[in-house]
Amino acid sequence: MTSLSCIPDLLNWKIDLGLDTFVETGCFKGDGIQSAIDFGFKRIFSCDINTQWFDVCGIRFSDHKNVHLVNGSSIEFLHWLFTDQMVNSGCLFWFDAHFKQFCAGVEHDNPDKLDDSDTFPLFNELQMMKEYTEGCVAFCDDMRVMKDSGRWNEVLNHMKIDRTIQELINVVECDKYQAQYIDSGEGILRVTPCVNG
Ligand SMILES: C[S@@+](CC[C@H](N)C(=O)[O-])C[C@H]1O[C@@H](n2cnc3c(N)ncnc32)[C@H](O)[C@@H]1O
Repeated sequence: MTSLSCIPDLLNWKIDLGLDTFVETGCFKGDGIQSAIDFGFKRIFSCDINTQWFDVCGIRFSDHKNVHLVNGSSIEFLHWLFTDQMVNSGCLFWFDAHFKQFCAGVEHDNPDKLDDSDTFPLFNELQMMKEYTEGCVAFCDDMRVMKDSGRWNEVLNHMKIDRTIQELINVVECDKYQAQYIDSGEGILRVTPCVNG
């Protein structure tokens, strides 16, 4: 797990593109939300599929009226954000939702099927970013679990996703967005607007 506060160029992107909205998938104990508050984002949206972490963050950020939390899958959450709330620009995404069973502290029920859309929703999240937004930036954490990351960690042996970083890049790249792998923290995929996009 990479700390959001350690991503070196995040603040530069926020300032250069005037991003005022932070959108996170997977709030866990709330450290990403706290970093977003510290970075000065005006609006903060996050979600978690595990009610336990939704409740923890609800209590932790109860005094922050600009923090909006949803208890549900990241795909439901993004759909609500993009189509109901019409939040489609000015966002910095922190796509960090994965391994719901692990984060709930229980064993995987089917370790051979870890890339299903609920357990590793990043492919669908990037697809939605491409379809519904423009001028946004995304950082996607934990690329170490991808087949070709070169950051293989035996502890995560059972979590390795049988797909490549290039496949992720192919999902999001278009005339609006470009993507780049950054070998920092646990491996980050960064998505930024094309220069003339
Ligand atoms: C690595 S932790 C997130 C850490 C947090 N973003 C931070 O920066 O401190 C992953 C979180 O994603 C949640 N999660 C896993 N799969 C999810 C899904 N499909 N939709 C929403 N949340 C999910 C887990 O319950 C867990 O709390």
